[in-house]
Amino acid sequence: MDKIVILDFGSQTTQLIGRRIREWGVYTEIYPGDSPLTEELLHECRGIILSGSPFSVYEKDAPRPDPRLYSLGFPLLGICYGLQRMTADLGGRVEALPEREYGAVRVTLASNLDWSAVHPAARALLSPLIESGTFTAWMSHGDSLSSLAPGFVELATSSHGFPAIVAHGQNPWFGFQFHPEVTHCEKGFELLRSFALEVCGAKPQWSMAQYVEEVRQNLARRVGKEPVLLLISGGVDSTVAGALLLKTLDPGQVHLMYLDTGLMRKNETTVVRSNLERLGAQHLHIIHCEDEFLSALEGLTDPEEKRRTIGDLFISIQEREVARLKLPDTYFLAQGTLYTDLIESGKGVGKKAHVIKSHHNVRSPLVEAKRAAGKIIEPLDRLYKDEVRALGRLLGVSEDVVRRHPFPGPGLAVRILGEVTREKCDILREVDAIYIEELKKRGLYDAIWQAFAVLLPIRSVGVAGDVRKYGYVVALRAITSEDGMTADVFPFPMKDLLEISTLITNTVPAVGRVTYDISSKPPATIEWE
Ligand code: XMP
Repeated sequence: MDKIVILDFGSQTTQLIGRRIREWGVYTEIYPGDSPLTEELLHECRGIILSGSPFSVYEKDAPRPDPRLYSLGFPLLGICYGLQRMTADLGGRVEALPEREYGAVRVTLASNLDWSAVHPAARALLSPLIESGTFTAWMSHGDSLSSLAPGFVELATSSHGFPAIVAHGQNPWFGFQFHPEVTHCEKGFELLRSFALEVCGAKPQWSMAQYVEEVRQNLARRVGKEPVLLLISGGVDSTVAGALLLKTLDPGQVHLMYLDTGLMRKNETTVVRSNLERLGAQHLHIIHCEDEFLSALEGLTDPEEKRRTIGDLFISIQEREVARLKLPDTYFLAQGTLYTDLIESGKGVGKKAHVIKSHHNVRSPLVEAKRAAGKIIEPLDRLYKDEVRALGRLLGVSEDVVRRHPFPGPGLAVRILGEVTREKCDILREVDAIYIEELKKRGLYDAIWQAFAVLLPIRSVGVAGDVRKYGYVVALRAITSEDGMTADVFPFPMKDLLEISTLITNTVPAVGRVTYDISSKPPATIEWE
């Protein structure tokens, strides 16, 4: 399959470049920017993109590509630092600007552009811009090209007078000083499309149906007839991973295990069970361990201690229950790892990214042992989250699961501030279910990245009839985000908020007061604990 390679120099938006191009049907792979350009990396490669970076090219440790990059004949597109990198490598000059160019910046194509002075592919690349000749780009850089590398021509300039688009005279080499991968960049996605499809001539062969076929062939080769065990959390990733295993292997060899910790959302276990059974699961092991979790949490109020206790107990129950299955030693352990998880943990891709990721998959001894034995399979590891949802739909996973907001591993325990009790779990489950169902009914759910209710460790006074009563206080949270690393408050329509509040206090008598959290991240986090 044709692919576009992205060399990652550590920009926060590198992943977006890959995702946008895949939306046009072209497969992309991200590698650390300094990766040697091996035969494997270049296999079926049609073009290479150099990403942005937090570095300046003139810094001592600034990452550099394999120098062969410029002699292999591939079309190149440098984005921000990528352009500056190409410029510095090829004999031009990059210097600090007196002031950063940041945010929306107007960019205008040169008037009377002489297309014969640049490589013929330039016209195809810039075709989305030619009609209007000007557009609003999105920029974030403190350096600029003070002289172009020999052979390059400036095709467009920012409103501050700095080079915004350059092209080489003879080679299909281009540079954007702005970020076409960012939503706020006008025509940005079309520019990436032109680069991949027109300049590189990559064929749009990437589809979820094709992916399923590849997974089937890979698993047939790697796993054969051995059993495969997958731990299901109830979230999108593990459920879709389960569906994919059931589709691509003999369902008789697939074991799915799910721990009901008692800290799950309302009806979660039922939804998980019905989805997987409908998709043909034959060995679905649902472990009821609510009591074990609740007694372990008794008296604990410190959030980190709660997290640790849940994590440890999860691992020990998991070990115990897996041992009970008496699978042969040769069994494989499947995980719902995504492409972004690999990028963020620096495993082979984008290791320079200055990414803050606080929550990783639990590193259990079971996973470690299986990894050491080479018995881990990660069938979603080339997919972005949106693609996992598309794959889930293709495989027949219900919309309810496919569209589901993220849910933290420790579950409701980090949404009940202070001590966790069964009573509080039940109250929060009810409130959360009403809230989420209302969001869906009102068509708001899909506009929100994550929404949930939090049970506060205080009671406040209220009236019921003529009597004063002390009820629980809940906070509703709804945020928009790209990836959970930063978040904005969802601008909730006031009418909906008021109606939902009334519905909650009318339906759940233990709750006397509802508040809405209006904090963005940073400085707040998404969860309250
Ligand atoms: P924060 O609260 O750190 O949350 O802004 C960012 C994202 O991570 C989820 N989250 C967790 N996920 N274990 C998890 O698996 C955890 O302990 C945990 N804490 C927060 C949170 O729901 C949000 O999506």
